[in-house]
Amino acid sequence: MSGIREVSELRRFQRIGAHTHVKGLGLDERLRAVRIKDGMVGQERAREAAGLVVEMIKQGKLAGKCIILAGPPGTGKTALAIAISRELGPNVPFIHLSASEVYSAERKKTEVLMDAMRRCIGVEIHEMREVYEGEVVELKINMVPHPYNPYQKVPESVRMRLRTTEEERTIEAGSHVAEQVIAYGITEGCVVQIDAETGRVVNLGICSESEKAKLYEIDARRRVPRPTGKVKKQKEFVYMLTLADLDEIHARRRRGGLFSLLFGFGGEAREIDPEVRAMVDEEVKRMVDEGRAYIHPGVLFIDDAHMLDLEAFSFLSRAMESELSPIIILATNRGFARIRGTDIESPFGFPLDLIDRAVIITTEEYDEDTIREILRIRAREEGINVSEDALAELTKIGARTSLRYAVQLLSLAAQNARVAKRDVVQVEDVRRVDELFMDVGEAAEYLRKHEEKMMKH
Ligand SMILES: Nc1ncnc2c1ncn2[C@@H]1O[C@H](COP(=O)(O)OP(=O)(O)OP(=O)(O)O)[C@@H](O)[C@H]1O
Ligand SMILES: [Mg+2]
Repeated sequence: MSGIREVSELRRFQRIGAHTHVKGLGLDERLRAVRIKDGMVGQERAREAAGLVVEMIKQGKLAGKCIILAGPPGTGKTALAIAISRELGPNVPFIHLSASEVYSAERKKTEVLMDAMRRCIGVEIHEMREVYEGEVVELKINMVPHPYNPYQKVPESVRMRLRTTEEERTIEAGSHVAEQVIAYGITEGCVVQIDAETGRVVNLGICSESEKAKLYEIDARRRVPRPTGKVKKQKEFVYMLTLADLDEIHARRRRGGLFSLLFGFGGEAREIDPEVRAMVDEEVKRMVDEGRAYIHPGVLFIDDAHMLDLEAFSFLSRAMESELSPIIILATNRGFARIRGTDIESPFGFPLDLIDRAVIITTEEYDEDTIREILRIRAREEGINVSEDALAELTKIGARTSLRYAVQLLSLAAQNARVAKRDVVQVEDVRRVDELFMDVGEAAEYLRKHEEKMMKH
């Protein structure tokens, strides 16, 4: 049986993560924290400190520095880091790593860290190239019989007339360009760009002023204006890459070398040769000296950094001193703790020499007012209607246990209200889910009470 069914409404898949409400640091133009702004509430001192950090990062002044975010669980360290990344915008690389990701079975931990650090260094490369650019107004491809197969024809040369707003010029090129003209479907009316040195052809789209662009009613081709200036000109190209991208490009070129002659492609190598990195560094430095490239140091944020061990820490300390190093932000909720991989206790579970190199931003426990406002923002974010009484009850629970627990209860209470066919979450919903679920304190008490009955192994 076949039929046509009407779909009444498009449902969008919506995901709400723990930090989706965080849109920025919420500072005014003097970098003072506004109590409630951009999804952030309270924690003014830490936010203002983060604001200064953002300014310095934007000016490229903080490369190779380390910032430690320290404070009890659930006080907004991760939220703060996310706010920093939102403030930095899309052009500054920001890599969010959890310390446990460093321990993978396939790659060395120093390799994972190294790769992450290089992904945080943006390299803006400027290149001047001589190009022919214009709308194709006449195109003639000269086809000749294939040397080994006279029944097949292959392109031998191409002759095209290019037009800009200023002039028209005819150019001729050999089979290399002619093949690309065919491969990219270039016809009259297209705007092309041909590299004068390498002969690489780019089809920029259909010229919006040309007659050909008005031919069809439905036309998915990209429309571009007719190029200005001369047909042959110097043009500046800007590429945004990261050091890791450059490593990858160089490594691939190398892998392709001898291996490709014998066995095809060199296969996937999981790790990049240190020599390749050294080469890339040299090349980038040279380009920077010549004024052809600019470095944009980004941010490597390692969450739960107390999970790193001594080796990883010493690697980070050393790497921070290299010339091409990102800003490193470490978050931890530990007080005095053992450094992983040793018997030594130290603040945050970090080695002292690393702490010495860092500036520290601390976060503080929230008061009831702040908890209520964060809950209000979360409710809005999750599309939950909640009564003032229910919010007050949740706030009380949050102050007694933790902000996280209160945020969890909010979603559960909303579910409870939905089941009871109520639009607005009431106090009874909150009380009921608080009864059904446990916070950490209650769970610990429960375990102590039933210790003998629980399995130990
Ligand atoms: N000042 C704040 N404004 C708005 N939302 C906040 C604020 N602080 C925390 N939150 C939110 O509260 C929740 C818990 O905070 P977060 O995960 O950042 O804590 P944390 O300090 O990283 O804890 P942990 O040490 O356990 O990793 C998150 O959903 C976070 O977005
Ligand atoms: Mg966190």
